Amino acid sequence: MNKQFAQDVERGLSGSPKRLSSKYFYDEAGDKLFQAIMNLPEYYLSRSEYEILEMHREQLLRCFAGSGEAFNLLEFGAGDGFKTKVLLRYFSEKQIPFRYVPVDISGNILRQLAASLQEELPVLEVEPVEDDYFQALKKVKETTGRRSVVLFMGSNIGNFSEEETISFLGKLYENLNKGDLLLTGFDLKKDPDQVRLAYNDSGGITRAFNMNLLKRINEELGGEFNLEKFKHYPMYNPVTGEARSFLMSREKQEVRIKELGRSFSFEAWEPVHVEISRKYDLPSIEEYARRSGFAVVKHFFDCKHYFVDSLWEKK
Ligand code: AVI
Repeated sequence: MNKQFAQDVERGLSGSPKRLSSKYFYDEAGDKLFQAIMNLPEYYLSRSEYEILEMHREQLLRCFAGSGEAFNLLEFGAGDGFKTKVLLRYFSEKQIPFRYVPVDISGNILRQLAASLQEELPVLEVEPVEDDYFQALKKVKETTGRRSVVLFMGSNIGNFSEEETISFLGKLYENLNKGDLLLTGFDLKKDPDQVRLAYNDSGGITRAFNMNLLKRINEELGGEFNLEKFKHYPMYNPVTGEARSFLMSREKQEVRIKELGRSFSFEAWEPVHVEISRKYDLPSIEEYARRSGFAVVKHFFDCKHYFVDSLWEKK
């Protein structure tokens, strides 16, 4: 049994309002569902960022390598690397010396990525790290004297609370050297109907992705959730830019979780908050950079300005 998971479920379902962390969406089934989400017509985020990397790869390379200096390209939460391969292919073609260090807590997805890179770009130097982001950064810094360029894409930062964002960026700043770079993907505020659709696709894939959390509790902790008795309910607040997803109990019910040795009561239409996906505007992005000590180098947009990859430097 995953003790941390058990503890977090116990704490999250005992509190009011109830909450469960979206970081537990990602087991093997969750990874597959997320890959399917990234291909959905409604999920514009991945396509927009792909376009950014394709359109700006030349300028990004100039920012990363100057006139051809070697660097380490670390990617936090690398996933399947689909978008990053746009850069990896281009940088390799240009024969720039760099090492790609994908970092992820999912060993499963890292192994798949390493295997696909071995096939597609056999000359690329790849060093996958299955660890905490900051441990990985420390390791890389200790073994080379090169500039580190950290990629944190896909609006993964949007899944953090405000507090987590500040602490993550601050810790990252402390762990980088002067001259190191950070490229972060932020989903921008836009037509609220479009944002809502991205989290409520017509094929029900996002619903299954959220429900996978209850399925995991059933499988790993002996939970007795009947998934039919919960509704996937996403909402978007255009003022705060917060898209939040809930699992709502359709009726008053008690659910036993064997490994926790207890049951949890749900009122009819009681929400369990499972995910936050924040949307940003440029002033707030620049304020995050300033507060954490970084200097903004440049913002890279897609054609529709749906998304931005923002490049910051530790001066
Ligand atoms: C990983 N993360 C940035 C996604 C998002 O948009 O918040 C996860 C996701 N949740 C539902 N659809 C996709």
